Amino acid sequence: MSHLSRRPDDAVVGLALPHESAALHVTGHALYTDDLVQRTLGVLHAHPVCSPHPHARVTRIDTAPALAVAGVVRVLTADDVPGTNDSGVKHDEPLFPEIVMFVGHAVCWVLGETLEAARLGAEAVEVDYEPLPAIVALTEAIDAESFQGGQPVLSRGDVEQGLGGATHVFSGVTEMAGQEHFYLETHASLALVDEGGQVFVQSSTQHPTETQEIVAHVLGLDSHHVTVQCLRMGGGFGGKEMQPHGFAAVAALGATLTGRPVRLRLSRTHDMTMTGKRHGFHAQWRVGFDDEGRLTALEATLTSDGGWSLDLSEPVLARALCHVDNAYWIPHVRLLGRVARTHKTSQTAFRGFGGPQGMLVIEDILGRCAPLLGIDPVELRSSNFYVEGQATPYGQGVRHPERLVAAWDQVLRSARVAGRREEIAAFNAAHEHTKRGLAVTPVKFGISFNFTAFNQAGALVHVYKDGSVLINHGGTEMGQGLHTKMLQVAATTLGIPLERVRLAPTRTDKVPNTSATAASSSADLNGGAVKDACEQILTRLTDVAAGRELSWDELVREAYFSRVQLWAAGFYRTEGIHWDSTVMRGHPFKYFAYGVAAAEVEVDGFTGAYRTRRVDIVHDVGDSLSPLVDLGQVEGGFVQGMGWLTLEDLRWDESDGPGRGRLTTQSASTYKLPAFSELPDELNVALLERAHEDGVVYGSKAVGEPPLMLAFAVREALRDAVGAFGPDGTSVALASPATPEAVFWATERARSASPASLVEGLPGLVPDQPDPTAPRLHPTSEQVAEQAADTPAGT
Ligand code: MTE
Ligand code: MOS
Repeated sequence: MSHLSRRPDDAVVGLALPHESAALHVTGHALYTDDLVQRTLGVLHAHPVCSPHPHARVTRIDTAPALAVAGVVRVLTADDVPGTNDSGVKHDEPLFPEIVMFVGHAVCWVLGETLEAARLGAEAVEVDYEPLPAIVALTEAIDAESFQGGQPVLSRGDVEQGLGGATHVFSGVTEMAGQEHFYLETHASLALVDEGGQVFVQSSTQHPTETQEIVAHVLGLDSHHVTVQCLRMGGGFGGKEMQPHGFAAVAALGATLTGRPVRLRLSRTHDMTMTGKRHGFHAQWRVGFDDEGRLTALEATLTSDGGWSLDLSEPVLARALCHVDNAYWIPHVRLLGRVARTHKTSQTAFRGFGGPQGMLVIEDILGRCAPLLGIDPVELRSSNFYVEGQATPYGQGVRHPERLVAAWDQVLRSARVAGRREEIAAFNAAHEHTKRGLAVTPVKFGISFNFTAFNQAGALVHVYKDGSVLINHGGTEMGQGLHTKMLQVAATTLGIPLERVRLAPTRTDKVPNTSATAASSSADLNGGAVKDACEQILTRLTDVAAGRELSWDELVREAYFSRVQLWAAGFYRTEGIHWDSTVMRGHPFKYFAYGVAAAEVEVDGFTGAYRTRRVDIVHDVGDSLSPLVDLGQVEGGFVQGMGWLTLEDLRWDESDGPGRGRLTTQSASTYKLPAFSELPDELNVALLERAHEDGVVYGSKAVGEPPLMLAFAVREALRDAVGAFGPDGTSVALASPATPEAVFWATERARSASPASLVEGLPGLVPDQPDPTAPRLHPTSEQVAEQAADTPAGT
């Protein structure tokens, strides 16, 4: 066992503690960025002037009428930018654009004494636009070949050979919608200018260092002139990994120009219409299976809807391609990835970072093909699992595949899958208009940033003379419990009670050059750094003790008087990983996190309404650092995944009317989030036991993102239930999200499905039926024709 993962007997890690701020969260005492406004004198408020066009040239901006509005102090435009007028890391995101690229794109920002003054000022700004043609739907972008960024290919073996040797070949299209983050706290920044032009920005950001860098670029300053602090976030979910930078830069620009603090906080509708979301994807695929239903080959083209700029679309796409295999061994693979450019918000990171979209492709394939192969989907999935010695298509060996099998078997047992399927069959036979379905799906998710350099972290640990400890690390807290875990790590390493350790907010002047709090890796990375810092101090204290039995406080005091340094900066980098993005090969992940879910649903055939009756989960978090926190992450991730796959329906106006390009679901009234009423009636979550992960801090594994993908079980259970409305062997194509409306249309199709084609043993084209609920995600008639022509016969 490695030094890093070995856990002492009296460890504070592993204790089931509440989140360090739980009491503050639930009593309303927890401070978020925008709460600081009340504590700051002379704050100005920022309001955007947003484009009503999805694509247009700005031909004139007249700010004079705004300045005539009472309380308006200044209007920020491109002319005010002393540095670079860009808020992206790809230099494709002008902060004050000459060409607007989506409905909601901010043209300029008005600063007012009150938010209302700023809003009225924004209304008064006169902007002339020369509208340009806009691409809204992803399929329009594909047809128009409107792409941006690289087009990576991930391949292994020879797909033609693999398909040629297959007994069954199927082809199809899988489309999935994006997802709004809907963090409770919308984007917020508060910027102040200190003496000598030093800029201090409080920001709700998952990536303080990059926010700092962008603010510095926009202001034309070096990084050391800018400090960014993040107290905590009311949720980030990936939406605050890159998107906060521009807002922070606007606030900082306003503060430097006016000399007053500037606050920028988006309203919910601004947040939904201005900021990026999960990428929707379109995938066109061909797949082969042998006699026994084992995958022989997969060829697919994945196109993501990147929106107007690149943002994180390329790394999201890379992760999608690296997760198309999910838990399955596919000998021959060829995957092509593309990012479409559309005139919509710039889509970005969202819990799973493309992994869910990649995995949905293979899960959709297996779910649709199982009936055509005449193989039970539970069987089809498990018979294709990786076994020891096999590698992913990008060449990384799959370590510990037996852990996935252990989780799978545990779920089959604890959820009584076999028995309940018999009960469900009996129920379905007795009910013509209500059908139940049950499905079991696996998750294998790679942990680490694909981009190797990001896998580093720093920490600063102070031991004060009285023996109390203050820690700082590079990660941010967004509700995921990172700070709770870091407190536990510090207490464990130093061997002191948790109460002796406190944690200070994340700041770029405490720990520099940090990576985003993302990729679920923050406990691994920052935990390694905190442990390193604590160990440096401990080593010095051990010398001071020189074998004597002293209490912690005595030892610290003695160390101080012996002039021994009582603080340390810690550092950690993940060893053993590498990645070559040009050929899409390497060993990008430190390890894989595994999980399995079984879900049972009940569908009403008259309306498509459904209920999730029961969910059983076994999830692998290694030796948990903080079991209550991890449980919360599994439950929350799972429900958020359910939301993405079954409820949350982003709609853009794709008509040629005046509203073209407008997000029509701009608030909670039209965008349905999972709530209490959608929770499974019964939700059982167990953490996989005997799951120690060697080489990771105290034997733990990352937990933040992987559980989201457990929700595939619900989607597959819906498919199972829908299939029960049709004849045996009905292959069900289900839209994503599988909203009640989509489920209704799927049941209608299942009812009218004929089993004839199967009886005749015709090639199993998975029909890509038009789905009236998801017109925006449809392939063109040419594509459908092409696809039908493309379907080779099985032998
Ligand atoms: N949990 C809560 N409560 N709020 C969040 O915003 N973000 C998720 C996940 N869990 C999130 C969350 C995402 S997208 C990631 S990458 C991880 O937390 C980031 O934190 P970690 O690296 O500490 O797991
Ligand atoms: Mo998470 S999508 O990596 O912020």
